[in-house]
Amino acid sequence: MAGYSFSLIPHEVAKLKTDHRLIQTSIPAPGTAEVFERLDKVESRSMHGQLPLVWERAEDSSVYDIAGNRWIDFTSTIFVANVGHSNPRVTSAIKEALDHPLYSCYAYANPVRAKYLERLISFAGAPFEKAFLLSAGTEATEAALKLMRMHGQQTNKRRRGIICIENNWHGRTLGAQMMSSNLGQRAWIGYQDADIHHIPFPYPWQLEGRSGAEFLLQGLEALAAKGIDLSQDVCGFMLETFQGWGAVFYPKDYVQAIETVCRKNGILLAFDEMQAGFGRTGKKFGFQHYDVTPDLICTGKGMGGGVPLSGVIGRAKVMDLPDVGNMSSTHSANPLVCAAGLAVLEELESRNLVAEAERKGKLFREALETIQKRFPDRISWILGNGMIMAVLFQDPETGDADGPFTSRVAERCMQKGVLVVHTGRESIKLGPPLTITDEALIEGIAILAESIAEVAAE
Ligand SMILES: Cc1ncc(COP(=O)(O)O)c(C=O)c1O
Repeated sequence: MAGYSFSLIPHEVAKLKTDHRLIQTSIPAPGTAEVFERLDKVESRSMHGQLPLVWERAEDSSVYDIAGNRWIDFTSTIFVANVGHSNPRVTSAIKEALDHPLYSCYAYANPVRAKYLERLISFAGAPFEKAFLLSAGTEATEAALKLMRMHGQQTNKRRRGIICIENNWHGRTLGAQMMSSNLGQRAWIGYQDADIHHIPFPYPWQLEGRSGAEFLLQGLEALAAKGIDLSQDVCGFMLETFQGWGAVFYPKDYVQAIETVCRKNGILLAFDEMQAGFGRTGKKFGFQHYDVTPDLICTGKGMGGGVPLSGVIGRAKVMDLPDVGNMSSTHSANPLVCAAGLAVLEELESRNLVAEAERKGKLFREALETIQKRFPDRISWILGNGMIMAVLFQDPETGDADGPFTSRVAERCMQKGVLVVHTGRESIKLGPPLTITDEALIEGIAILAESIAEVAAE
């Protein structure tokens, strides 16, 4: 979030009350600065930079602060609350798990883990046969890296290469950071794994008449020019399902061409579904937008409905590569998170939330495109699918990306009772819980339009 810091000084704003929003104090609300100051004293600043409000509770698609103000939530705590904040089914599953005296049991077998994994595999569908559960998303992408390398080196010791995409992001641990191309974020490592390669991302504004498949070919030719042989040196492709900061999806033929390259050369295809999974994009998993079949998917965030649950899901022959006992983690698959994960799947399926995300996604896109028509010189792109959308802002004079304007719009939305995802760059991301009502969704988008108009007029 570098580059813009939100003021903690209370600002007089218009008081308002609707069925979905309540702003009854100055914003940031009284008491907010004190909590931020306490955190500043005892917590690494690396955790900070978000909008200045102190969450007191969150229910379904509403967030409440310590002063009783209420927001329409377009963040889902960064795409975690797919089934709604504090979902009652998830809450009672957790309570039930706690009432049963077993909420930690390392890798010892327990019934709820078996039940959850069976349900997860059936939810994921073919070709997925086995999963390995973890706690954080970064652990899942890291595990996929390990599995792809183990698979490659089975046939050829040289086969360690992982092809990733520039500007994609996979987490903050060593391997995940190396697969992410952000140089600033991995400077601390001091070296780059020589077998992790990056090829350009096919941004719609960079295709210049090329098809996705042609664009990919150019990327792969650049690797070949460095002496990388796809059939001898490469074991995996790791794709973030869409590029996070701007919900930028790839052209379908780009991903399909990657799949063809993988099949031809015995390379594994993995998707990082952290943000895209569990209905977020209007499909169970985001890779389904490309009509391809991955070997591995890395999941997390919405998977646990708010508890730390992540995983790698894949074909059995890949998932069983590590020897017995060789891929485990202390808190992995504990009874509490499995109970929550199970309730998430039950909620997604019984309420048809994946189809709902697709239906509401159409409303969402239409409403945002109407705003774009109103501000054609400010909004350069509307991107995304289902319940993950991004609005990209530009400077009306130069056409350059306009991060500061974007941050001010995010702040204004907050002052008006709508929480959006502040990315620190020229995008505002919008990812409400899939359970949000049509009315709250439309009201939130109207407030975004109002905020853009006000900030543009200043
Ligand atoms: C695409 C993607 N991959 C990996 C991660 C890392 O997940 P976690 O923060 O749970 O480690 C994130 C988190 O934002 C993500 O968006």
